[in-house]
Amino acid sequence: MSKVVNAPSRLLNKRNWVIPASCVILFLLFLFFSDSLFLRKPPQTPLPSPPDLVDLTLLTDSQDKGALCLDGSAPGYHFSRGYGSGSDSWVLHIEGGGWCDSISSCSFRAGTALGSSKHMERRVLFKGILSPHPSENPDFYNWNRVKIRYCDGASFSGHPDTEPKGNTKLYFRGQLIWKSIMDELLSAGLSSARQSLLSGCSAGGLATLLHCDEFREALPKGADVKCLADAGFFLDEKDVSGNRSMRSFYHNVVQLQGVHKSLHRDCVAKKEPSDCFFPVEVIRNIRTPVFLVNPAYDFWQIQNVLVPLKADPTRSWWRCRLNIQACSPNQLEILNGFRGSLLKAMDEFQKSSDGGLFINSCFIHCQTWYGTTWHSPTSPRINNKTIAETIGDWYFNRRRPVREVDGEYPCNPTCINMDFT
Ligand SMILES: *[C@@H]1O[C@H](CO)[C@@H](O)[C@H](O)[C@H]1NC(C)=O
Ligand SMILES: *[C@@H]1O[C@H](CO)[C@@H](O)[C@H](O)[C@H]1NC(C)=O
Repeated sequence: MSKVVNAPSRLLNKRNWVIPASCVILFLLFLFFSDSLFLRKPPQTPLPSPPDLVDLTLLTDSQDKGALCLDGSAPGYHFSRGYGSGSDSWVLHIEGGGWCDSISSCSFRAGTALGSSKHMERRVLFKGILSPHPSENPDFYNWNRVKIRYCDGASFSGHPDTEPKGNTKLYFRGQLIWKSIMDELLSAGLSSARQSLLSGCSAGGLATLLHCDEFREALPKGADVKCLADAGFFLDEKDVSGNRSMRSFYHNVVQLQGVHKSLHRDCVAKKEPSDCFFPVEVIRNIRTPVFLVNPAYDFWQIQNVLVPLKADPTRSWWRCRLNIQACSPNQLEILNGFRGSLLKAMDEFQKSSDGGLFINSCFIHCQTWYGTTWHSPTSPRINNKTIAETIGDWYFNRRRPVREVDGEYPCNPTCINMDFT
């Protein structure tokens, strides 16, 4: 991380202004093509035009409300108004970006876009589930579309009581940020929504699950309200060295940011608060219809839950954790065990009548936010349907039940498998 951050300033010291100018151009090119770069596929989407780029809105009166990012700056979101048949329908997407579990990791984060609006891009491209083009986003393109920026480091569920005293100033206001952004969107028309879908990816997928019923309750009784968690089903699994790394990490996040107050009462009454931060527990208490999109070989979970670097001192997993094609038969067997644990953790959920699933055997992470994975000719599919089509079928009850689970790797030829080597 620090290497990447330092590189441009070293260049600046050596060279003249040509470097910054070309950096700006490179950055713009990256912005335009980041979707295709990320996925190593030729661009499928037309060049962005104004409706694709959406300005950042900072929360009003954030100081008075006490709703602050880790560094004390105002939280923000990007909002594109719906029109026509979509004018009273809302799709929200909560940004992801991991968590911080210590004063030092939260202090570091407070100096980045994931902890401070001072560092956030002023405009973002709306892609995937937020795309304004019917060809890329057939069911939600003309809905009110909102991207909520993540800047608290605890899936919008921290509380100020545990903020550090003394010289380090850090704000743990996740729950307040969530509530204040909701209030502002409710005033902007969300309070009279006829249809709504709360979604999010990764840490934002977990936030979606944590806040799903609160969201339901804030909307009109007669509205169709559903939730979609993408790559947010984090498992309480042992890593390859036999340690419960993820459990101790979540334990630290929950302790540090006073998260227990945002967790379900029934769960906290019976279990350790940090157990109640795992989706397998969160989902037991959700009453609103939920859809889970999750790759069975989620690279974030493989790299952080199953094979964190410290669990692999001999580096025998070095290549496999970066590229599923480089895994040995033994390693694949362990990955398949992880896939089995994911499906087992979803067992009870699969029996719910209004829940939906899309579990594809790809080595990828977020799939709803990228045009190439959400809905394009080269998207991952199950039963010949893209994620967008499958979620549309579920949301609008076009068929039931909607539970798509493919076989073990490498059974699905439509998979996009990331290669980090
Ligand atoms: C496993 O966990 C223990 C206790 O937290 C720790 O001391 C040890 O270093 C960990 N080992 C690995 C390989 O992560
Ligand atoms: C798969 O779906 C596409 C449309 O998305 C259709 O053109 C094609 O015929 C379908 N293929 C099969 C095998 O059903």
